Amino acid sequence: MSRAEITFREGRPDDVIPMWKIDQACFDAQTAYTVDIFYFHLLVGRAPAFVAEDSKKKIVGFVLCAVEKKKTGTIVTIDIVEGLRGKGIGRELMRLAEKALRGRGVARIELQTAVENEAAIKFYESLGYARGKKLPDYYAAGRDAFQYDKKSE
Ligand SMILES: CC(C)(COP(=O)(O)OP(=O)(O)OC[C@H]1O[C@@H](n2cnc3c(N)ncnc32)[C@H](O)[C@@H]1OP(=O)(O)O)[C@@H](O)C(=O)NCCC(=O)NCCS
Repeated sequence: MSRAEITFREGRPDDVIPMWKIDQACFDAQTAYTVDIFYFHLLVGRAPAFVAEDSKKKIVGFVLCAVEKKKTGTIVTIDIVEGLRGKGIGRELMRLAEKALRGRGVARIELQTAVENEAAIKFYESLGYARGKKLPDYYAAGRDAFQYDKKSE
């Protein structure tokens, strides 16, 4: 599957299960989100979310956001299926997410990633996110995260 065959659209509440399944495949039990988190952000929070679909309309990646505080947005998570990483899908999902957050008046975007997640660290830094403090035991005991943030231009 080439990048050219991937299409992007806004996420909908009925995307929750495919999103959650991709997240389950990406992370271990301590780091993966429960399905309730997806329902909460998509249904209750009505937060921006975007999905990437292959030519058969199967979801192969997504980004889920939140607007936590006034003028601060969060990238809750972004996950691409393993076989389609490194093709620019994540970058395009982040572009769409940042644009949607700006449209909601967000001036600063923050996110967290596990300190050992080198791909995600390189990914976010390539997109201009600046590393902040280390968050000890963020995911579970001994599972630290880095805080990242970026001004929403
Ligand atoms: C992190 C993740 C979302 C990146 O998505 P992606 O579609 O593979 O990334 P892209 O192809 O858009 O990469 C954009 C840039 O990020 C950087 N990057 C992405 N993956 C990288 C890797 N494995 N190693 C080094 N740099 C990387 C590169 O600078 C890349 O630009 P380039 O291709 O021009 O060099 C993806 O690896 C993923 O889903 N990982 C598993 C889930 C996860 O860890 N999510 C983050 C939660 S905090």
